[in-house]
Amino acid sequence: MWVRNAWYVAGWSHEFAAGRIHARTIIDQPVALYRIGDGGLVALEDRCCHRFAPLSMGRLEGDDLRCMYHGLKFAPDGRCVEIPGQRLIPQSACVRRYPLEVRGSWVWLWMGDVAAADPALIPPSLALDDPAWRLKAGHLDYAAHYLLIDDNLLDLSHLSFAHEKTLGQDMPQWADERPRMAPLERGLRVQRWIADHPPRGFMKKKLGERVDVWNAYDFVFPGVFLQRTSFHAAGTADRSAGAAPVDPPLFHRIDEQAVTPISARGSRYFYAAGARADDIDPERLDRLFAVTETAFGEDKALIEAQQKLIDLEPGRRMLPTSFDAGPTRFRKLVDDLLVADGAPPAGVRSASP
Ligand code: FES
Ligand SMILES: [Fe+2]
Repeated sequence: MWVRNAWYVAGWSHEFAAGRIHARTIIDQPVALYRIGDGGLVALEDRCCHRFAPLSMGRLEGDDLRCMYHGLKFAPDGRCVEIPGQRLIPQSACVRRYPLEVRGSWVWLWMGDVAAADPALIPPSLALDDPAWRLKAGHLDYAAHYLLIDDNLLDLSHLSFAHEKTLGQDMPQWADERPRMAPLERGLRVQRWIADHPPRGFMKKKLGERVDVWNAYDFVFPGVFLQRTSFHAAGTADRSAGAAPVDPPLFHRIDEQAVTPISARGSRYFYAAGARADDIDPERLDRLFAVTETAFGEDKALIEAQQKLIDLEPGRRMLPTSFDAGPTRFRKLVDDLLVADGAPPAGVRSASP
């Protein structure tokens, strides 16, 4: 079951080159995206209303899209404007058009009722070419349900173990200490200090032997992860009394990610990572990004293996621990969204969503 009334990331804007039709699947719905003459993007149902051939196998004709099975032609609003050899075009000859917004560098599609599409629900993300930041981006495909990836991002205790040689190196606090959490309209805000951390590599040269790290992120349905991690002089965590840092950071890292459900066992994970442009040069950004991508490979290996084991015994219950507050709260929120959509809830503790 899917939450339909939500914005989903279809891709990075730069993926959608002009002159081509791009096929994507989001919550089991096939979508064809293409650019019209003014550079704007259009998203239509990727299923011709005649006999259901994919429009992504069709042909662009100016701003229109022609199905290359029997030749029906569709305008960017989804209306059929030509049926070869037939004068009368019935009103029902149309395909669905999805509301689309480009924000930052992500292309967002609204998969539910058109009248309910509210762009104000789209969480704010950075553009990859924002001059204040130096960022690199990519994506990864998972053979797993999106909620398992969400669970992972809502419980960073795994950094101390799954990423003990990458993102969680010398950071036992990820597992040993619990973050503070606050509700957002469609998500959670998670914040924590990692005090007295020994940085490595270029970070050590730049920051010294010991720093306090403030990690804060907003996590919004369906899996939008907007994280800021700032590195501070040792002692800042104490001076800030566990709350947001009172002093400006020595180094500021940014991570922005979005999980898009494709099918019950397929998800796409979009990510960007970087730092303030003044803090990092392109070569160091390459290194930071390489470590980050290695860590994402660690997550993918674990989560895909986890999905296989879940599917061996779908009814089996997982063991709750105090790590799981974030995933549990978020799954409750997903259930609320499903119910608001008129769908049955998935069940907060269900191992096999
Ligand atoms: S299936 Fe598209 S024109 Fe027939
Ligand atoms: Fe991870």
